[in-house]
Amino acid sequence: MRGFTEGVIDRPLTVAEQVANVLREAIASGALKAGTALRQDELAERFGFSRMPIRDALRQLEAEGIVSIHPTKGAHVAGMDSAEIGEIYAVRELLECEALRLSVPVLSGGKLDEAGQVLNQIDAERDVGRWGALNRGFHLALYDGCGNRRLLGLIEAHHNAADRYVRILLSNLDYRNRSQSEHRDLLAACRRHDGKTAVSALRQHLREGSNTLVKAIEGGGLSRK
Ligand code: NI
Repeated sequence: MRGFTEGVIDRPLTVAEQVANVLREAIASGALKAGTALRQDELAERFGFSRMPIRDALRQLEAEGIVSIHPTKGAHVAGMDSAEIGEIYAVRELLECEALRLSVPVLSGGKLDEAGQVLNQIDAERDVGRWGALNRGFHLALYDGCGNRRLLGLIEAHHNAADRYVRILLSNLDYRNRSQSEHRDLLAACRRHDGKTAVSALRQHLREGSNTLVKAIEGGGLSRK
């Protein structure tokens, strides 16, 4: 079925998905700060939609850990703290190392080339807003062979939850260069179909990202845009 499903045309985004994208972007860029209230009626008026897709969008963002919904006070942008970063990265490590372990033996040359091209795009990209999505594209290309769409869905949800943190990370040039060299080591191990080295390189890459972020939030070590 793989060859068949690859030909499926992308379906258009639903209104709720579009609203979620706009809100996620605003939160990731810092335009909507932690603790900001997200009122359904205000958002409905602003976007020009009914409240239903707004509510669905907020629920989607809640599932990603980006928005908190209180039964009486409504929705607000979730707070950021180092404990949360630790949790997100611990789950990412579990999910992504397993996906990579399953994927490496069957990774196609096409997917490896795609991952390599994404790395070149990251080198050339000057827009901070695009780096997070490209980073996600690189990682997901390597997990493509895992053969479990639910696992990939969970990985994507946790990438979304980590998005604004990843953006803070990638806005630091030193970290970005380090991250790119880790990505290239990881890709080289995948090309050799060396699962053990690839998984340990990925684990190291994720721990490095998490530690750098926690240091940044606790000590102000990274410049925040
Ligand atoms: Ni990465």
